[in-house]
Amino acid sequence: MSAAEKKLFVKTYGCQMNVYDSERMIAALGAQGYAVTDRPKDADLILLNTCHIREKAAEKVYSELGRLRLLKAGNPGLVIGVAGCVAQAEGSEILARAPVVDLVVGPQAYHRLPDLIARREAGERPVETEFPAEDKFDYLPQDHRARRSPTAFLTVQEGCDKFCAFCVVPYTRGAEVSRPAARVVAEARDLVARGVVEITLLGQNVNAYRDGDGVGLAGLVARLAAIEGLERIRYTTSHPNDMGDDLIAAHAAEAKLMPYLHLPVQSGSDRVLKAMNRRHTAGSYLRIVERIRAVRPDMALSGDFIVGFPGETEADFDATLGLVEAVGYAQAYSFAYSPRPGTPAAGRPEVSAAVRSERLQRLQALLARQQAAFQAGLVGRTLPVLVEKPGREQGQMVGRSPYLNAVHFQAAERLVGSVVPVRIVGTSANSLAGVLAA
Ligand code: SAH
Ligand code: SF4
Ligand code: F3S
Repeated sequence: MSAAEKKLFVKTYGCQMNVYDSERMIAALGAQGYAVTDRPKDADLILLNTCHIREKAAEKVYSELGRLRLLKAGNPGLVIGVAGCVAQAEGSEILARAPVVDLVVGPQAYHRLPDLIARREAGERPVETEFPAEDKFDYLPQDHRARRSPTAFLTVQEGCDKFCAFCVVPYTRGAEVSRPAARVVAEARDLVARGVVEITLLGQNVNAYRDGDGVGLAGLVARLAAIEGLERIRYTTSHPNDMGDDLIAAHAAEAKLMPYLHLPVQSGSDRVLKAMNRRHTAGSYLRIVERIRAVRPDMALSGDFIVGFPGETEADFDATLGLVEAVGYAQAYSFAYSPRPGTPAAGRPEVSAAVRSERLQRLQALLARQQAAFQAGLVGRTLPVLVEKPGREQGQMVGRSPYLNAVHFQAAERLVGSVVPVRIVGTSANSLAGVLAA
């Protein structure tokens, strides 16, 4: 079989950073003669890009590996690799638990994939979970094909030094590292040349971005905003403590910076925040929200919440509901606490599963009401919508409002990649319905 005929199937779990990493791995393996397939049974190489954040996320990987065992039984040449945060956290334990796995590669070593595949072909079962000194992105080849979507992710910062007591990320992604601004700008220019009009800058603590020359996220946004053809800039995820004045000011100064901010708080109880090692209080969070709304009154706020953290009482949980009432979220994510091996909170006495799930339901009901209210407030307004792709119905297109709402409306497919005025006429659970206004 010639190299050009090799097929690669990638399955991506977890956060947007994994989506971006999968794209970079596909480009790297493309240079080695692998073409992407969307059918696992056609693949010569299957990569699972995994997530370790909650127990359920990690367990999904093992059920998928169970299914792949059958596939491999009928195709002994198939190579199966585990990448991502489960790979980093569990390393060679994966090989012991799942004999079907041929190689394991952690998030900072993707540039070594071709070498790992060669070692596999020579009979090894390689595990690569070092945190190398070099930046993988300097060695992963850039993709030069036309992009299918007008929106793209771009990782600018990776890793975390915050060590929240519940979280695996500092262990799976390593220490905080920011990519040089010049490289980010070059990559953004390349994306724009390939048809991208919206870029979402990614980092586990993206607002802590600071490169070797001292350029912070506000400075990076200003440089990106100067790129002609780039219409929209977003960034995620931010930590409250890194929400500097210059970044807040950028939301007033930069028209290309979209009025949507994902700012996780986790809990509204200072006692719980302290036990979580969050290093902010409910009050300091609310003051940041005030400062942001002072410069950008229409800012759509999003957040993350954990309910049932060890030691959380009914009064602590009420404080979380109170904070949510005070902020008024446009949209948010909430999770029942899941103990993670190796994290400081893992051994602490747990809130019962029944209480966790009952509190989660109450919080999610409140957040759903807030989301419905935010969406209802947009009905009747005309919003600039970036057209992303065809929708499910005939003649329908799907786009995004500045506030990141999905908007469905009738329009021509050639509008993909344009920002068009859309009058909002209705809402459903997770999207808006509109009519092209031009
Ligand atoms: N760097 C980001 C996101 C980290 S993971 C941040 O600081 O917010 C995304 C979200 O998953 C977290 O914000 C948190 O709400 C949730 N999460 C992380 N660890 C968890 C755990 N052990 N149990 C439940 N939810 C968790
Ligand atoms: Fe995890 Fe906290 Fe770091 Fe976010 S800031 S990645 S929640 S340790
Ligand atoms: Fe999951 Fe790793 Fe992202 S644990 S959320 S894939 S950083």
